[in-house]
Amino acid sequence: MANGFYDVVVGLQYGDEGKARIVDSLADQYDIVARFNGGANAGHTVQSKGVKLALAQIPCGVLHGDKILYIGSGCLLSLKKLKDELDALSAIGIDLEGRFLISPFCSVVQPHQIALDLLDAAHLGTTGNGMGPAYADRARRAYQGCLLNIRFGELLSKQDKMLAQMRANWHQHANSLETLEFDLPSYIEQTAETLEALNKYVAPHGLYLQEQLQKGARVVFEGAQSVMLDVARGTVPYVTASHTFPSYACCGGDVSPKFCRKIIGVAKAIMSRVGHGPFPSELGGRRSEEYCMLDAGKFNTREKESLQYNPRELLQREGDFELGIALRMLCGEYGTKTGRPRRIGMLDLVQLRYAVNACSVDQLFLNRCDLLPLFSKSQYEAVPVVTAYSSAQNSIGTGEAELFSYTDATNSVELFESFDINELSKHSLPEGLQALVNRIEVFCGCSARGLGIGPDREEIHWRSSVC
Ligand code: IMP
Repeated sequence: MANGFYDVVVGLQYGDEGKARIVDSLADQYDIVARFNGGANAGHTVQSKGVKLALAQIPCGVLHGDKILYIGSGCLLSLKKLKDELDALSAIGIDLEGRFLISPFCSVVQPHQIALDLLDAAHLGTTGNGMGPAYADRARRAYQGCLLNIRFGELLSKQDKMLAQMRANWHQHANSLETLEFDLPSYIEQTAETLEALNKYVAPHGLYLQEQLQKGARVVFEGAQSVMLDVARGTVPYVTASHTFPSYACCGGDVSPKFCRKIIGVAKAIMSRVGHGPFPSELGGRRSEEYCMLDAGKFNTREKESLQYNPRELLQREGDFELGIALRMLCGEYGTKTGRPRRIGMLDLVQLRYAVNACSVDQLFLNRCDLLPLFSKSQYEAVPVVTAYSSAQNSIGTGEAELFSYTDATNSVELFESFDINELSKHSLPEGLQALVNRIEVFCGCSARGLGIGPDREEIHWRSSVC
């Protein structure tokens, strides 16, 4: 039998580009939807025919009943949250038994790792799911005779021993954790309870996915977080704790790179970033970052903003900071799982070109095109797009980290004619949007295969010339 292949869907900006809805809409062309990095920190939304699902750990092929879902060893497992996700799916009639498999080599997030992360959350703006400390412990392996990396398979087969190890690891770190209120006994108890329910999902061995590829399976990897949040090449230290580049899919997804067929990149026409870190096209710059990240993102919430501002009125005011708030409210840009306000920015083609090039993206999806006409009511009266950075930053290729650092300088903005939202459909594109897409394709050297024109699975404008 002929070998199968895998494609990788990767976020090209700062996360939340809508990768899940693209994977969901492409899923018919594959047999298996798999994950290779991250864990409960990811928030993925899929929406079709009135069903809206907010997922974190489970791959987003759930709405396709005939697809296998796989979590690779590069992912971290937050067991209680995973069980809650499965229960929520089961409550709406989606049962994953027999089609959901987890690598036995996934590391399990432990209580001391969550606690350590929470203590650091305000400083880096993490999601507080223990990602950084858990990946660090995985690399550290053991400390003073204590096993720091507890893996799913081992936890299932040596439950008492591994739970005792979890407790011991907490006490090992107790000095650093004493300021935090954390209910260790109930966490351990809940973990033990989840194991019975999750036992049936462990993959038979670490070569499961590789074997499926050898038998001809078509696999799509759904990247979590995005290129600019890569632990090594992103905007360090304001990044996630795993590798987000598509090249990591083979390693964290437990397959050989030999099977890779193509890379599918996803970007968003109005950008966002959640957490701290540089964001060159941010509307309102540093002021916006400080505002959004006040009290670790818990202060200026969706509820607070909706009580305080009228977004339509704010849209018409002078000032990028105000425009950023208005767009966040009108586009609903708040964290799927954390509820934090997302910082908003113009589409940044300098950054997009870098990401397309660094990942060798074969084809591009641009989500949220339907929201671009909001700019026509703003001071720009057209769609603004960043096409060059201030001179000090303009040297692509000289040092990636420096390129996307903080700047107070003003970037060059190109304006594109806005368009009437009613002219946007699955079959035709208004002139203004067509001109913007042409510019993106030439600037980034990559074809756009689809444009998101609404949140539903069906609301994608497919460009027939690209396949
Ligand atoms: P962590 O992944 O929880 O360690 O958080 C590190 C950084 O990555 C923070 O700035 C988070 O806001 C960001 N981050 C983590 N997961 C996501 C995601 O799914 N979307 C967007 N940003 C994320």
